[in-house]
Amino acid sequence: MILVTGATGFLGRHVVKALRTRGKEVRCLVRTAARARAVADYQVELAYGDVLDPSALNKAMSGVDAVVHLVAIIREKRNQSFDLINRHGTEMAARAAKEAGVNRFVHVSAIGAQDNPDYPYLYSKWQGEQAVINSGLNYTIFRPSIQFGDGDEFINTLAGLVSAFPMIPVVGSGKVRLQPISVEEVGAMVSLVVDNPHFGGRIIEIGGPDHLTYDEIVDIIRTTLNVRRFKVHMPLSIMKRLIRIMEAVTPNPPATTSQLEMLALDNITDMDSVEKTFKMKPRHLEGNIGYICSISRLEALKITLGFIPKRIRDH
Ligand SMILES: NC(=O)c1ccc[n+]([C@@H]2O[C@H](COP(=O)([O-])OP(=O)(O)OC[C@H]3O[C@@H](n4cnc5c(N)ncnc54)[C@H](OP(=O)(O)O)[C@@H]3O)[C@@H](O)[C@H]2O)c1
Repeated sequence: MILVTGATGFLGRHVVKALRTRGKEVRCLVRTAARARAVADYQVELAYGDVLDPSALNKAMSGVDAVVHLVAIIREKRNQSFDLINRHGTEMAARAAKEAGVNRFVHVSAIGAQDNPDYPYLYSKWQGEQAVINSGLNYTIFRPSIQFGDGDEFINTLAGLVSAFPMIPVVGSGKVRLQPISVEEVGAMVSLVVDNPHFGGRIIEIGGPDHLTYDEIVDIIRTTLNVRRFKVHMPLSIMKRLIRIMEAVTPNPPATTSQLEMLALDNITDMDSVEKTFKMKPRHLEGNIGYICSISRLEALKITLGFIPKRIRDH
């Protein structure tokens, strides 16, 4: 039995699908029956509870061979800080797994995870990794670059901006490099390591087949949407001011200041990271984001105001 935490999220449902395709029995830690609908197609067991609830965790881990831990937040909310969910939540999940005698703990971190409080998200992801490494568990840690696919936040949000406005604001020089990777493929790779001894005790960085600058990603989105738009490069300091104003008027701006700061850092690994480790060729961003073409003008406007319609991203 494999326990997946964060199963109802963007990556989680692909991990569940891939595990089920491999014939694995899967249990999902879910918070509500409504959210459990995201995995309803896959014939999984459900364990209800929050990652911060030790008794829910103990119950969920009972009789489990491996855990895939995906719970994390990319935006802080009133009662949910990076420290609480990404560090402490991971610490709690790892402790419960150790107590339950789990054989493999697969943790999904992020490229750029680092011991540097100036980048609070990346710092919390690094602390989460440390909790796993120091837990005494047999672990595998993944560090993916930005993931794309139907329901993603990053590409859909950019597509909303491109679609809604004649001019596209780009942070800084637009030369920061990212390595977008398909969420479906990340799900497949995660599912492959749960029972393979070869992957024990490893930190695996993965990214797609291209190092793309932010400018190039915007160009791919423009081409996919078949629209002509101008890019306006704006200094990080001005973008941060704009986002602070938006943060004051909308609960969920299209980006947070902490996300903007991360856009000053390259988010890449070796170009052949996936082929080298998993002997598979990952798909390109270009030609594989047709899902953004269904965003209507009204939906694009909502996205720019920070409200991604449920039809596009259901959480
Ligand atoms: N998406 C990317 O581009 C990307 C890139 C690199 C690394 N990652 C990492 O990949 C992992 C999965 O990311 P994702 O994009 O799938 O995130 P996501 O779509 O936001 O999903 C987060 C999941 O965590 C669950 N969750 C949040 N707080 C919880 C809590 N307190 N207790 C129990 N469950 C909780 C959510 O449950 P609900 O459904 O109930 O909200 C959801 O299932 C994360 O560790 C993230 O840091 C993602």
